Amino acid sequence: MFVGMYLRRQVVLGIAGIQLVTLAVGAVVVVFNARDAVEIEVESGAQSARALVIATLGAAMQETAPAMVLPRLADILVAPRHVDIALIDARNGILALSDVQNGAVPETAPDWFRQLVMPTLRETRIPVQANGTIYGYVSMTTAPDDEIAEVWQDVTSLFWIVALTAVLSAVMLSVLVHRSLRPLDDLRRALRRLREGDLSARLGHRGGSADLRPILAGFDALSESLQRAETERAVLNRRIVELGDAERRSIAMELHDEFGPCLFGLRVKASTIARTARRDGNAALAEEAAAIQSIVAQIQASNTRLLTTLRPMAIGQVPLIDALRDLFDAFRKTHPGLDWHIDLDTGLPDTPEILDLTVYRFFQEGTTNALRHGNPQRIAARLEADTGSRLEADTGSQSARMRLTLEDDGIGMPDRRAEGRGLTAMRDRIGAVGGHLVIASTDVGGTRLSVSLPLSRPVLDDTAEELAS
Ligand SMILES: Nc1ncnc2c1ncn2[C@@H]1O[C@H](COP(=O)(O)OP(=O)(O)O)[C@@H](O)[C@H]1O
Ligand SMILES: [Mg+2]
Repeated sequence: MFVGMYLRRQVVLGIAGIQLVTLAVGAVVVVFNARDAVEIEVESGAQSARALVIATLGAAMQETAPAMVLPRLADILVAPRHVDIALIDARNGILALSDVQNGAVPETAPDWFRQLVMPTLRETRIPVQANGTIYGYVSMTTAPDDEIAEVWQDVTSLFWIVALTAVLSAVMLSVLVHRSLRPLDDLRRALRRLREGDLSARLGHRGGSADLRPILAGFDALSESLQRAETERAVLNRRIVELGDAERRSIAMELHDEFGPCLFGLRVKASTIARTARRDGNAALAEEAAAIQSIVAQIQASNTRLLTTLRPMAIGQVPLIDALRDLFDAFRKTHPGLDWHIDLDTGLPDTPEILDLTVYRFFQEGTTNALRHGNPQRIAARLEADTGSRLEADTGSQSARMRLTLEDDGIGMPDRRAEGRGLTAMRDRIGAVGGHLVIASTDVGGTRLSVSLPLSRPVLDDTAEELAS
């Protein structure tokens, strides 16, 4: 789990962990040392207290009667550090020492700490006796509490210093790691852009440590060659479509200019033969000639159909919008019972023939599919030029686009859809002019095709020239 984390978090958590362990070990060592230190300090305190008591007692014995020695001691003895003194008078019980403050009393340590460092308490009793009579005792008990309180104060100060240092170093490390890893965030964002198809994503050689710089530069080189390959692919794709269009155009011309007149001549000749045979009373020949006439008429009809399929006559001769109107008029005639919504932007700028053909084929194939597979009540077609301003389209700005939508309220695309020749060719053509096709369901379960096409192609043109040279 730790290994899978962000490096930043790993470093900060790792350092925090080490500092916690160090703090714990330090605390154990401090407690052990404190116990010894308290014991030694208290012991030495007890020794000097004993010396003080013995000296004071000696002086008092010489000054006063033995029975008055203890009350006298109560007046003159000053309670030393680390020792509790009790004066036990054989006649009057315990005497209190005159109240003398021993300086500021430090805050007491909490119980758990006292128990950890508390040395064993020892009591010493010095008897006050003269001529074989015991008048009482001076009892001295070790009192380590104020020493423990002092140690506790040191320990807490040390703790706060160490904790502050730990927090500061964690924050500093976190900032440092964050700053040096920031290029990785940029890299992640750039990779996402690449995945989403934006091949212009670059990192530049902004910042980054020496370890990261080659990776960032490598990314830029990679995305650059990817973009180049993609552009070349688009150019080739477009070339293929253009060549196909040209090929179909020349076949259409051949059919129209050569086949058309020949078929016409054939029909005229057959009709002449039929007429002549009928006049000469040759009914059998007349019938044969009529048969030839009807075969020629069939060939002419399929020739006309072939011509329209190969190349819509209107394209390249009338504006795209007019060609599309004719197309939908023809559909309306064959399917008059449907609810047709045709909305074509009349302000479309002049578009190249390859684009006109792409738009025309899109609506042609899409509508044919809807009629053939969808069984719809309503078909809506829409074409709009999204130029921002018309000027932009005229100057060939990259952002000028054409948006096409075709919607039907039929049965919708089958769930396990395998695109046939029609949709595949549509997608290829649209891709070849730098566009993008999205097939989706409508709210009522029908089919919606949406296309966005760039109105200009400066990048492609540059690369095409390079490829051609
Ligand atoms: N508008 C539509 N409504 C319902 N199904 C559709 C529609 N358009 C396409 N399809 C489905 O997608 C399939 C592929 O279409 P297409 O690639 O044009 O091939 P074809 O029309 O030759 O079958 C069709 O066979 C049909 O099942
Ligand atoms: Mg089809």
